[in-house]
Amino acid sequence: MKNMKKSKVQFPEKGIPPEEVLSQIKRKKSSDAEWKNGKMFGFVYHPDDNISRVIQEVHNLYFFENPINPTFFNSIIHFENETVSMVSDLLNGDKQVVGNVTSGGTESIFLAVKVARDRARKEHPEISKPEIIVPASAHPAFFKAAHFLDVSPVALQLRDDLRVDISLLPTTITKNTILIVGSAPSYPHGVVDPIEEMGRIAKENDILFHVDACLGGFMLPFAERLGYAIPVFDFRVEGVTSISADIHKYGYGAKGASIILYRNAGLRRKQFFVHASWPGGLFGSPTLLGTKSGGPSVAAWTVLKLLGQNGYLEVTKRTLEATRQIQKGINAINGLKVVSNPEMSVFAFTSEQNDIYRIGDCLGAKGWYLDRILSPNGLHLNVTWSNLDNIEAFLADLEISVVEIRKSKLKKVITSYSSKLTNTLFKTSPEKAIEVIASTMVKQTNKGKRSNTATFYGIAASHENRENIPALILDFLDKMYRKKN
Ligand SMILES: Cc1ncc(COP(=O)(O)O)c(C=O)c1O
Repeated sequence: MKNMKKSKVQFPEKGIPPEEVLSQIKRKKSSDAEWKNGKMFGFVYHPDDNISRVIQEVHNLYFFENPINPTFFNSIIHFENETVSMVSDLLNGDKQVVGNVTSGGTESIFLAVKVARDRARKEHPEISKPEIIVPASAHPAFFKAAHFLDVSPVALQLRDDLRVDISLLPTTITKNTILIVGSAPSYPHGVVDPIEEMGRIAKENDILFHVDACLGGFMLPFAERLGYAIPVFDFRVEGVTSISADIHKYGYGAKGASIILYRNAGLRRKQFFVHASWPGGLFGSPTLLGTKSGGPSVAAWTVLKLLGQNGYLEVTKRTLEATRQIQKGINAINGLKVVSNPEMSVFAFTSEQNDIYRIGDCLGAKGWYLDRILSPNGLHLNVTWSNLDNIEAFLADLEISVVEIRKSKLKKVITSYSSKLTNTLFKTSPEKAIEVIASTMVKQTNKGKRSNTATFYGIAASHENRENIPALILDFLDKMYRKKN
């Protein structure tokens, strides 16, 4: 056999003791982002310690169980069905509404798109190129689902307040339209699309209408009861045919739990998959995954029971008060501005006078984690339970960061110089530019460095290099997920 070069990380010849395994993991994990101090806005949705202890215990109880065969672990199906009932009740579904627990927003959305595609195949075989109308601000999961399911996404542009421009919807509908999508709220700007009007148009045209309440499903209903001005977005809108709502976001459950609801069982039937001619036995599958853990589903049931309506009302009240306090504080800082008028606790802010991404980096160096948005250039926050005691500290650090970046002329020059240099490299040798930037990003990420994003986001936000960005992301993904050779 040829002398093959072995990779750096080989399959272990002998097992190692648990303490050593754990210490290796902990060492590596120590460079991950710190969220327990309440300085991360989004990504992690952590309830208080008492609740988190119980849901972790329940998750563990179902660690090895596998509901793929519903006759073996029927308790998981029981808890999933009860969870679906509770969420349907919350979102004003009637007795006809049915649904499933899925692994997350992406799976729920994928299934809603599949239902629309398969309904069209059956009821409108004349449609050869099915289209789904998706707000430009909708989560990329819709574009991903469209890609996998071979349907074409048609982006619906936004009004000045960054909600869907409803006046464009009637003319965007074609004979190929099989689904319309609205967000409640959208991720980038946290605003709720005009769901009632969209629902009316969808119904008039006999087109399915999915509301993505992955973020809002467990906050908007409680905000409405608290008296906040929340537009109707759920099954009370007649045209709404399906809704996704994530328990692993503002439901505060374990990661791996979302709900997909349909107006009736006839629609949901198109979600199911059956393969009855397999030598391995009769196979029927309700959602996308095959084998899965029972942990996230039963933990989802648990958190709804533990908190109840009064618990969610209380946390929603505190979160919305904190959000309004942050937004007021941001708007009071010279040059900063909250984008549009978001309904709940998801929002972005921009700077008219300074590079907002540099402000983000400055906050990053102080231990705060905020997402970046591209249109407009902005920083993004999902205010959650674990941020509630940190509002004043955040506003103080934000104010300091703005002063720091205004003072630090040198860093400004460096950022603008490196942006210019990269733009020139993109023009003269795009492949080289992609290679250099992707490698730098991977190196920084692997070292746990997160506070140097201004140059990259500056490039991504500028229109000059837009066409090179997909290749850059592909390269980044390819380099990020490489085995150790
Ligand atoms: C509005 C919205 N929809 C869908 C998703 C996708 O959810 P997941 O990441 O659980 O797949 C997200 C995720 O942030 C979201 O914000």
